[in-house]
Amino acid sequence: MAQQGPRFAFHDLHPDTGSFLDEVVAGLTRPRKALPPKYFYDERGCALFESICETPEYYLTRAETALMRQRAGDMARRLGPRCAVVEYGSGSGRKTRILIEALEPVAYVAVDIAREQLRATALEFAREFPRLAVVAVCADYARPLALPALDALDARRRVVYFPGSTVGNFAPEEAAGFLGNVRELVGPGGGLLVGVDLKKPAARLNAAYNDKDGVTAAFNLNLLRRINRELGADFDLAAFRHQAFYNEPLGRIEMHLLSLRDQQVTLGGRAIRFAAGETIHTENSCKYTVAEFQSLARGAGFEPAACWTDAEPLFSIHYMVVSG
Ligand code: AVJ
Repeated sequence: MAQQGPRFAFHDLHPDTGSFLDEVVAGLTRPRKALPPKYFYDERGCALFESICETPEYYLTRAETALMRQRAGDMARRLGPRCAVVEYGSGSGRKTRILIEALEPVAYVAVDIAREQLRATALEFAREFPRLAVVAVCADYARPLALPALDALDARRRVVYFPGSTVGNFAPEEAAGFLGNVRELVGPGGGLLVGVDLKKPAARLNAAYNDKDGVTAAFNLNLLRRINRELGADFDLAAFRHQAFYNEPLGRIEMHLLSLRDQQVTLGGRAIRFAAGETIHTENSCKYTVAEFQSLARGAGFEPAACWTDAEPLFSIHYMVVSG
């Protein structure tokens, strides 16, 4: 039996999830059609993302996990004893387990908008790490966040852990705002451990988002499948094609769904027209040099304290502390 005493707590901050339908209609009635990437992650989308991480082309997860394994001891020394680790987003948890084993924090606080997935992963952590206080907080970390639950924990330092290069989904100016929110949350003496994919030659980046088995294509197209199922739309999935390319001037991978013909889709009682060759922009994945990300962080009130990269280098993990 799982012990659900004081070691596990669940706080529901009732994030305003907005309406899926409203956001989809808004995105598809703009002159340049776009959909928010957060909607990729229904059950099938989560499974497809896990498969992407296993494709030979998608190096990000392997590089970051290897870096965590190799450098977790060093990271733990930097962060110090009696940390409260606040993780934004809960994925498979492999990298987080490596961090927790090396760091032995006093508390692990998982923040995610996906309520049931969050509850399941957090309970799993509570079972696995008997000396760890585990708090699950259902909230939207893309917005300013207060975690009163943190005050009760007897921690020396609050550290946000944000792996996966998910920070790349924000445009740089949004990322700066996000980092400012993190700074407010962790407070003086607090830190941020964040995984960031590095800029590199376009061929390598393009391959990572265009795997040969078409897993990324299926992940991208799954968004239309979800809209059909949950919102009663009638997208013809065969009439759209996955498109992903490195936009070098903007330093980001862009994912789109390309309409293969003139067509009309019905959604929420509206007709939405697509011209042949028109796209729906579904995701940005911004890439940074170490120096670029450090300067972004400085602008948001963080001081770079350490940065780990692999040999190639493919991926970076930054540790930064609240300055002043
Ligand atoms: C989970 C947002 C980091 O941008 O690389 C993978 C998502 N999209 N393949 C990324 C994704 C297409 C991924 N992030």
